[in-house]
Amino acid sequence: SNYPKTTMVIFGATGDLAKRKLFPSIFRLYKAGKISNEFAVVGVARRQWSDETLREVISESLKDEDPKLVEEFRSHFYYLAFDVTNKESYQKLDLMLSKLEEKYNIPGNRIFYMAMSPQYFGTIAVNLKQEKVTDTNGWTRLMIEKPFGHDLPSAQKLNNEIREAFSENEIYRIDHYLGKEMVQNIEVIRFANAIFEPLWNNQYISNVQVTSSEVLGVEDRGGYYEHSGALRDMVQNHMLQMVSLLAMDPPIRLTTNEIRSEKIKVFRALRKLSLDQIQDYVVRGQYGPGKVKGKEVTGYRSEKNVDPESNTETFVAAKLLIDNHRWAGVPFYIRTGKRMKAKSTKIVIEFKNRPMKLYYSENDELKANLLEINIQPDEGITLHLNGKKVGSSGRSIPVELTYSNDSDASANTPEAYERLIYDCMLGDATNFAHWDEVDLSWTYIDTISQAWSNGHSDLAIYESGTMGPQASDDLLSKDGFQWWPVVDDVD
Ligand code: BG6
Repeated sequence: SNYPKTTMVIFGATGDLAKRKLFPSIFRLYKAGKISNEFAVVGVARRQWSDETLREVISESLKDEDPKLVEEFRSHFYYLAFDVTNKESYQKLDLMLSKLEEKYNIPGNRIFYMAMSPQYFGTIAVNLKQEKVTDTNGWTRLMIEKPFGHDLPSAQKLNNEIREAFSENEIYRIDHYLGKEMVQNIEVIRFANAIFEPLWNNQYISNVQVTSSEVLGVEDRGGYYEHSGALRDMVQNHMLQMVSLLAMDPPIRLTTNEIRSEKIKVFRALRKLSLDQIQDYVVRGQYGPGKVKGKEVTGYRSEKNVDPESNTETFVAAKLLIDNHRWAGVPFYIRTGKRMKAKSTKIVIEFKNRPMKLYYSENDELKANLLEINIQPDEGITLHLNGKKVGSSGRSIPVELTYSNDSDASANTPEAYERLIYDCMLGDATNFAHWDEVDLSWTYIDTISQAWSNGHSDLAIYESGTMGPQASDDLLSKDGFQWWPVVDDVD
């Protein structure tokens, strides 16, 4: 059959990601009949669990599903208590995989999924190689979670380590935004329609805005987040990936390499800023106390595992410039933050005004045409146009054309992780980050973090439940623009 046949090893199987995302995603693939009955997953972690403990956790994470199917599904899961620095652990793992391959009749295809603390990623890869766990008569692939390094040097080091055991085309660097339905739709909307691509340049577009706002605060992740901040947590990966998909040239065909090489060109064209320019291009903020959804919340500095004097940013807004023929002079504004007013990821393409004004509208402003691409929670696009005001002459009113993925369809759309795991099983790395993208994005980010640690910019405290600090609005108003709202229910 055409089912991908593989074993999968999940490093960090006792963790939160495995429970929240990985087990449910693999289950959905199973339920949808996308993986055959011949599969096996080995969960490894430090704790002394048994197969049974792991299977109970799987049941918990699938408690709304048909128990009979869950029972059948989880019987494919095995557990191995593991010490990442001990060679014997790897030998045991190799033996266990060989046995499972025999039991389930799986050719030596192995996916290694790194979902544990990133400090071990390199060690694991090197040991997998040395103990020959990657030496099989089938293929081996590595799925690796973020963060991919902390800056360029650490990312390079990690990359060199994983490259000991895996070649670039065996490495699947996860950016879960690339698994989202509407992020994948950006290319289709752009390249499958005659009415967008011809206008998709600096002649017709005045600016592009990408917002990814969250309502949640840092929650239980203070320990990690204190060393990361929004810049590394969201901008280096998700935000820059979305920018590259919006800005890239059409690939000559839909292969992984062709698409990646167009994206990489965008990263290469990002204008490098000097340290003293950063404050004019990048805003950093941190949430203070406030109200979200009617509930009082504390500021970041009072969160668990956060330094009471922390200067870690929970919000970033930035203006990016892409120095190529298509985009010269068009600012790409991005913003992302926690404890904002709404959970929303939205892209707005703002088109230039017509050269002459013929019509006037109620408040005397002819609205710019906007194309909104709604990534989440709504999925769809809205095109903002001007139409004739009924019964009047010479007057226009704003009208909207909306297409949305209806709720039935989106209820059944695979989750990001489900797609990405399936892609990896099929050997399709298109929706994963290539090393060159990671390398160039860190290069870009490192200048910003360097400027910040040299004290080149102020940290603005914003009230929880708002759209970030004033400086974020000023970033656009200096250029004569404004953020288009991400939510209609302005309160
Ligand atoms: C993760 C970040 O990569 O993305 C989190 O580490 C963030 O801090 C999350 O909350 C947002 O993802 P989503 O899919 O909820 O928009």
